[in-house]
Amino acid sequence: MKIAVFCSGSGTNLQAIIDSQKRGDIKADLGLVVSDVKDCFALRRAEKAGIRTFVVERKAFKSKKEIEAVILKKLKEEKIDLIVLAGYMRLLSADFINSYKNKILNIHPALLPSFKGTHGIKDAFECGVKVTGPTVHFVTEDMDAGPIVLQAPVMVMEDDTEETLAEAIHKEEHKIYPRAIQLFVEGKLKIEGRKVRIM
Ligand code: GRF
Repeated sequence: MKIAVFCSGSGTNLQAIIDSQKRGDIKADLGLVVSDVKDCFALRRAEKAGIRTFVVERKAFKSKKEIEAVILKKLKEEKIDLIVLAGYMRLLSADFINSYKNKILNIHPALLPSFKGTHGIKDAFECGVKVTGPTVHFVTEDMDAGPIVLQAPVMVMEDDTEETLAEAIHKEEHKIYPRAIQLFVEGKLKIEGRKVRIM
């Protein structure tokens, strides 16, 4: 099985995935890292690990449709089986998602279905929740709403700041994302409606 990881930023999840794959905890090839930000640190991590990279900058294209067509072509050429979104800051179109139906995973830094959107950590912290944590889910047309694969609880401590809470959440992300990916690779995730059964 061949995986493509999509990133736009620092790529700490990408690093956790690379490390897990190197240890043999993810038994699949990391075939490609796709980024829409040409100088993001995630690309440096990929290059260091010897993974091919593919940069698609928004400004070089007329429309989202065009960008996605180019990405899809590349994914097909590279025979990618699974797409892993790891801090990829662009929404994918319904057409794109349907061409990799039930083969796209995402990680969100809050316990879905609470605190969807781009500020999951801040929103949960400001809301005063006592427990939050990351969610790995399948990507569907509706943002942050696909079937949930794994979640990890993170307690919010009295003296937590948004930054210390973010650190604790990221630590859990780096554990559950590789685990969820390996479950997918092993064919152990069965989607039944809204639920994911782990076989
Ligand atoms: C993570 O917090 C993830 O939950 C969210 O984007 C962030 C990516 O961080 N989707 P990194 O680039 O993996 O460090």
